[in-house]
Amino acid sequence: MALRIGIIGCGGIGRTHFNAWSQAGYVPVALADTVPGAAVALAGTSGAQAYTDIATFLAEATLDIVSICTPPSTHRELVVAAMAAGVHVLCEKPLAPTVADCEAMIAAASSANKLLSVGFCHRFQPHIETMKSLIDGGAIGDVIMFRNRFAGHMPNVESKWFSDPALAGGGVMMDTSVHSVDLFRHLIGDAVSIQASAVTRTTELGPALRVEDTAVILLTSANGVIGTIEASWRTPPGEWVVTVYGTRGALTMDYDSMQLWQTDATGQRQQVTVADGDRFVNEVAHFAKCVTGQAQLRVTAADGLAATHILVTAATRAHG
Ligand SMILES: NC(=O)c1ccc[n+]([C@@H]2O[C@H](COP(=O)([O-])OP(=O)(O)OC[C@H]3O[C@@H](n4cnc5c(N)ncnc54)[C@H](O)[C@@H]3O)[C@@H](O)[C@H]2O)c1
Repeated sequence: MALRIGIIGCGGIGRTHFNAWSQAGYVPVALADTVPGAAVALAGTSGAQAYTDIATFLAEATLDIVSICTPPSTHRELVVAAMAAGVHVLCEKPLAPTVADCEAMIAAASSANKLLSVGFCHRFQPHIETMKSLIDGGAIGDVIMFRNRFAGHMPNVESKWFSDPALAGGGVMMDTSVHSVDLFRHLIGDAVSIQASAVTRTTELGPALRVEDTAVILLTSANGVIGTIEASWRTPPGEWVVTVYGTRGALTMDYDSMQLWQTDATGQRQQVTVADGDRFVNEVAHFAKCVTGQAQLRVTAADGLAATHILVTAATRAHG
């Protein structure tokens, strides 16, 4: 079925969505960005219509789906406007930086009777899909611990919106650990205990920020699995890894080498074969299937709300 796809926000992840939708067989037909020229630049030779006014874009483009790819604090207003225009929404993470914003977005989707999902793309990473089915199948026995580190160096973060609390709604936790928190909920379960420490300070890499640049979150699930989540924008060269430990071994997804490893209880390690696939292409293709009634949402807006709730709690614990 032909679907008319639009994108709001034509920066870094907007381009990723444009390419993912195109590879999934749905070349976007309309693009919007408030910065003049940004939508035109992304449209290139694709034939997509470019807009700078969001109301005109939503009124004229007759869309089925819009990807919202703008900074977090803009998500609520844009999702509510898209819902009022009768468009299904795939909103980038975080769904929104506050619980109240997430709830308003969920209410708007419900009254419009349109689908709302959030860009927790890691759930569509084939290695994570395989990891989940191995965990659920008992391959590492009873799960005991979860450890995740998404950390590296974001040059000049002090001059980007990521460190502007008004636009980002938080620091490295809201930006990066939102994925980690969702991975914990997806692979382990809901968190019943939340603790965190978060800092920023001037170093040779840059000045102290108005938000945290480095953080650790400690989660415990209802069945007693402990998770540590580490994030930083100031630790080159970086490490992007998720490990789940059980009574019979461990599974590690290493995003740097894009390899999944299984270690048994004796320490023998072997690489696990994983299907090919791109998480963003898989994510948008799944959302298209949901919109056409061929699948149920694997990531709901309620998942977005739950992650925001954990991050807001973590920020309160860390910053007081
Ligand atoms: N899923 C992922 O792995 C992933 C990766 C990167 C970013 N993100 C998320 O995607 C979103 C955008 O991040 P980015 O890195 O692409 O940022 P970016 O700065 O590269 O791009 C954002 C774009 O949105 C435009 N914009 C800002 N406010 C707008 C508004 N009100 N209406 C229309 N356009 C507007 C800006 O002009 C800019 O072109 C954020 O929520 C971020 O957390 C997700």
